[in-house]
Amino acid sequence: MLTTRPRGTNDILPGEVEKWQYLEELARNVCKQYGYHEIRTPIFEHTELFLRGVGETTDIVEKEMYSFLDRGERNITLRPEGTAPTVRAFLENKLYAQPQPTKLFYIGPMFRYDRPQAGRYRQFHQFGIEVFGSNHPSVDAEVIGLACDYLERLGLDNLEVHINTVGCPECRKKHKESLIAFFEDKKDQLCETCGGRLEKNPLRILDCKSPLCQELSENAPTTLSSACPECQIHFQQVQEYLTEIGIKYTINPRLVRGLDYYTNTAFEILVQGIGAQSALCGGGRYNGLIEQCGGKPTPGIGFALGMERLLLTLNQQEKSLPESGTPDIFIASIGAEAQKASFKLAIDLRKKGFIVEKDYLDKSLKAQLKTADRFQVKYTLILGEKELAGGKVLLRDMAGSEQIEISISEIEDFLERRLQKNE
Ligand code: HAM
Repeated sequence: MLTTRPRGTNDILPGEVEKWQYLEELARNVCKQYGYHEIRTPIFEHTELFLRGVGETTDIVEKEMYSFLDRGERNITLRPEGTAPTVRAFLENKLYAQPQPTKLFYIGPMFRYDRPQAGRYRQFHQFGIEVFGSNHPSVDAEVIGLACDYLERLGLDNLEVHINTVGCPECRKKHKESLIAFFEDKKDQLCETCGGRLEKNPLRILDCKSPLCQELSENAPTTLSSACPECQIHFQQVQEYLTEIGIKYTINPRLVRGLDYYTNTAFEILVQGIGAQSALCGGGRYNGLIEQCGGKPTPGIGFALGMERLLLTLNQQEKSLPESGTPDIFIASIGAEAQKASFKLAIDLRKKGFIVEKDYLDKSLKAQLKTADRFQVKYTLILGEKELAGGKVLLRDMAGSEQIEISISEIEDFLERRLQKNE
């Protein structure tokens, strides 16, 4: 146990972590261009927030939350998603008092007690955005467009944007009734979960993964067919705005999403080839959520994109991300005095802004040069007692193995010239 991480979690090691940094930086840059500001909410919240926010009949709340009583007997949950916490922070910090809409983004770990498999973990990371305070259809298109823009900048292929409307509470009520009527005589054939949720949340039967439920719901009434004229118009306008910015989409009447808060636009960005977990990004509008969490009626919309799934996709499509920076220089030393001098030189050069690696194990010169090769440095400084006595060091060009003697005072200038010119 001591050397095993909990099931469904991952260590992100050097070599891999640079990819994460790159993806996070790109997310921050894209958000900046679209005028979204970062928000960081706690990793845990009061359980009540998710019961209300995400919905009591969702998979997340029914079986996936990491909930516990803390030492003060408070019911706490590790956040399974970022929308409800962002809504809570919007209300608690009165962000609604600022000019609207409020446009936020977040990047961070989420926790769900899910059955782990490729692309599905118990601790995973989301990059998400949320917009509060506008029901304008262009905002729906902007949110979908931002996700596509981010993914396109990474050069991903074969992405599919699926959209649907789940309507307003009135449409949903109508749709729920027609679904209950439709499934009434098929109830016994539905899977156990769907049979159980027919009365409470029949909408979820439409995205059940069981082949039989899928077959049974083939001709079920769609959310679009139950949508009121106003919701139909909104959906139509979203499509017009999407077309305006060149986003190709498919209307998927079965797309209903697994969280209860959605109203109107729901969308997912899917990619083939990463196993069963093909949803890279999911989101939609949630015009009732802020009121449900205790605020004034305020429209909202957003998405979250799974970072692990994104990395799997990048690997699967063999898209390389920029490599991490190699050190500018390696310092090798021979003898105790030279080791001391190399220690000081390394720190002086680091303070000047160079990335410096050195020997820490008093290895032989041959072994140190091998280490330098492993770091893929262009140059190694070799400090020997004889050269040091004369205030000099050897500079070795690792590619050609040539060595020249330079004085310690010239190193900085020399490196600056050579590295700038990328010689
Ligand atoms: P979600 O569909 O539950 O939506 O999750 C969004 C994305 O997070 C998924 O498409 C997937 O890439 C990733 N994801 C979810 N669960 C896991 C898991 N167990 N392991 C790895 N990745 C996972 C939400 O969370 C909503 N809060 C999205 C949203 C924001 N809607 C409006 N605003």
